[in-house]
Amino acid sequence: MPIDASTRFCAVYGHPIRHSASPAMHNPAMAALGLNWRYLAFELHPDNLRSAIAGAKAMKFIGLNLTVPHKLLALEMMDALDESARTWGAVNTIRFEAKATDGQWQPLHMFSEPPNDIRAHGFNTDADAITRALREDLKFEPRGKSVLLLGAGGAGRVAALKLAQEGVGELHLVNRTTSKAEQLAAELKGVRGHVGYPKNEVDLVLNATSLGLRSTDALPFDPKAFSLSRATAAYDMIYRPAETPFLRAAAEAGCRTANGLGMLLYQGAKALELWTGKIAPISIMREALMKNVYGSSI
Ligand code: ATR
Repeated sequence: MPIDASTRFCAVYGHPIRHSASPAMHNPAMAALGLNWRYLAFELHPDNLRSAIAGAKAMKFIGLNLTVPHKLLALEMMDALDESARTWGAVNTIRFEAKATDGQWQPLHMFSEPPNDIRAHGFNTDADAITRALREDLKFEPRGKSVLLLGAGGAGRVAALKLAQEGVGELHLVNRTTSKAEQLAAELKGVRGHVGYPKNEVDLVLNATSLGLRSTDALPFDPKAFSLSRATAAYDMIYRPAETPFLRAAAEAGCRTANGLGMLLYQGAKALELWTGKIAPISIMREALMKNVYGSSI
């Protein structure tokens, strides 16, 4: 569909943004849904986040995604916060909304001529994407399972809290800086976090550290303290490279494996559903993402 005066926009703001795969994933999905919409990417300094959100609102953008370093900053810039953004303490998706004739706030896709009074509604689609990726890409159901989580940074923290919320049975936390793993263990509700390597077998090892992004990186765990032969499945939040040394070692040890592409896919799919009110065309999005990230769909 050609761009014309009726074209509507979504965008991602990030700093840096150059390697974002989100436009490649969303534009074919919008076209497949028959929408004359476009998804753009903007390099945005955090000092300008507030005015850039106001600008998108004034121009009646449908919605925004936010990535590093904007997700936490945006929390106090929203006019309304969904439970998901409140629970995870971060906003990765904004839906712009206006009041319908019945006085209820509705997403802008519901209006052919949106009114000028628009609010920014903040959501978080990252946490749900973790468990959806584990379920759909790894056939891993968290309830009652034993997990070794590597990393207690931003991504590791959300993974731990989400797994606890989903009823994981045992959670072992390992982090280079042990005090951060201890703090995270103290924050958990519903499961006791054990800091350190497990003595017994685990159902899943989840890498939420940045180790593996560079080819020279060490493994994200100490092979003298833990062997992957004691795990059934392994998930790496990293998706570039497609197979980190951690995932390769896990596959060689007989684990089921999956990389972090699914997390990127499912957070995007949920955002698209929030904006459009339609089911996201997952297979089109996955294929577009793989082409963008790996240069092929295999
Ligand atoms: P993210 O938001 O992606 O989680 P982060 O909060 O900076 O980013 O967390 C990075 C994670 O990778 C942390 O668990 C970090 O360990 P520390 O908490 O000790 O910093 C881990 N990490 C990064 N570089 C590492 C390295 N060289 N060795 C071991 N762990 C590393």
